[in-house]
Amino acid sequence: MYAINMEQNKKELNIPDEVKIFDTTLRDGEQAPGIALTVDEKIKIAQKLDELGVDTIEMGFPTVSAGERKAAKEMVRLDLDSELCGLARVVKKDIDAVIDSDLSYAHLFIGTSPLHRDYKLKKSKTEILNQSMEMVEYAKDHGLKVEFSAEDATRTELNYLIEFYRGVESAGADIINVPDTVGILVPSTTRTLIRTLRKKINAPISLHFHNDFGLAVSNSIIGIEEGANQSHCTINGIGERGGNTSLEELVVSLKIAYGINLSVDTTKLYDTSNFIGSITGIKMPPTKPIVGENAFAHESGIHVDGILKNSSTYEPIAPELVGHKRRIALGKHTGHAGIRSKLDEFNIKVTDKQFENIYSQVKILGDKGKCITDDDLKSIAITEISTSGKEYIKLLGLNVMTGQSVSATATVKISIEGEVMETSQIGVGPVDASILAVKSLVKDTVNINLDEYRLEAITGGTDALAETFVVISDDKGNKATGRATREDVILSSVVAVINSINRILDIQENS
Ligand code: KIV
Ligand code: ZN
Repeated sequence: MYAINMEQNKKELNIPDEVKIFDTTLRDGEQAPGIALTVDEKIKIAQKLDELGVDTIEMGFPTVSAGERKAAKEMVRLDLDSELCGLARVVKKDIDAVIDSDLSYAHLFIGTSPLHRDYKLKKSKTEILNQSMEMVEYAKDHGLKVEFSAEDATRTELNYLIEFYRGVESAGADIINVPDTVGILVPSTTRTLIRTLRKKINAPISLHFHNDFGLAVSNSIIGIEEGANQSHCTINGIGERGGNTSLEELVVSLKIAYGINLSVDTTKLYDTSNFIGSITGIKMPPTKPIVGENAFAHESGIHVDGILKNSSTYEPIAPELVGHKRRIALGKHTGHAGIRSKLDEFNIKVTDKQFENIYSQVKILGDKGKCITDDDLKSIAITEISTSGKEYIKLLGLNVMTGQSVSATATVKISIEGEVMETSQIGVGPVDASILAVKSLVKDTVNINLDEYRLEAITGGTDALAETFVVISDDKGNKATGRATREDVILSSVVAVINSINRILDIQENS
């Protein structure tokens, strides 16, 4: 149940019976600065796109290099289900390169806007139209399927654009593609433009929208509402400048919001996005819709509570629909339900008191700006479980001074059964100095030996939590372990040692 019923809404729209997904990751996507793909990589990507189920793969621009032509030929040999297409300017050399690459589908283009005519091409409207019609005929005579783009269509005079498209259509173009080359459309201008063209053109209309204003997906959807039969898109929206229409966002919107039947298998979207991210080196931010790491992650107590009761409360679709996973994240907004569900997931059983201590540690770390990973939580919980018991010795203060060419000095303040004491010690490093200070403060209560000391950073980064594990023994041969997890290495070490001393004192008292 939605506030606006889509089936009702759709009656006022002109959505075609079939919408095709034309993927240009290997052409416009590869034109993104910083991306250069080898022939092998292009072939692997084409296979992935074919498995994903896109209708068409624009494999590249055959005229630009031998590698492009080799990639095209090898892709043709794979006999993919997706159609393969190659880009060409309206010149024989480019069209011949498409033919020589064994492709049977050419995407022809030429600039039509005053900017392109006057500055780039230095040709009149008539010259551009005549050349285009001639090259459509040439491509058709060579048996090619032809899709035609008026580059910079959205900054071309509307009358000329219509005349131009009608001309190339009459010359035999099978598909009319409308590029918003510099992404200046907004939803309302897209609606007017595509509605106007739809009335004047009989051939299927395709959209090629750039994302300079972040509107490529919205504009593509409006274009389809107005009867466009196809949209160009790229995986992760990669492409020139701000990129192109993002395939995963468009496909999910069309399928879920409009109920349009597309050939794309949505369950492969997350995997395909990651694959493209690694092969191109352009990783998606966590907030990227559909495929970002946060797309199905929940941290705030209210949301996690809702999600655990019914995931639809805070998710528009199930993550499985796009091959993603739900994730409960931990941080300062985490509530009891989130931490409980995580501990259950890790099969860690805690008492109510231990739970409250774990909960408050997560909050304290969250307030310090730390994101708590699953491993961090496990370690905090295990530390809590292994250290809860009687606290004979409490740490009240710790101060260290360290640097180059000076000895490290640590001042430690503790209380033993309520009696407060403080001392300073010098050591080879700050951890050594701190532990020597603890030892000297407790020596009248218990003499300890540090038998084992292990320090691990749980997560990467300078703000990682440090987990310390120690084994100590007293002079009666009693052994005890101690563990602590803190965001500070020295503090973590001192707390682990004090925890282990408390356990030794437990043993002594009970033996
Ligand atoms: O954005 C554009 O205009 C293009 C053309 C080659 C169609 O990518
Ligand atoms: Zn483009």
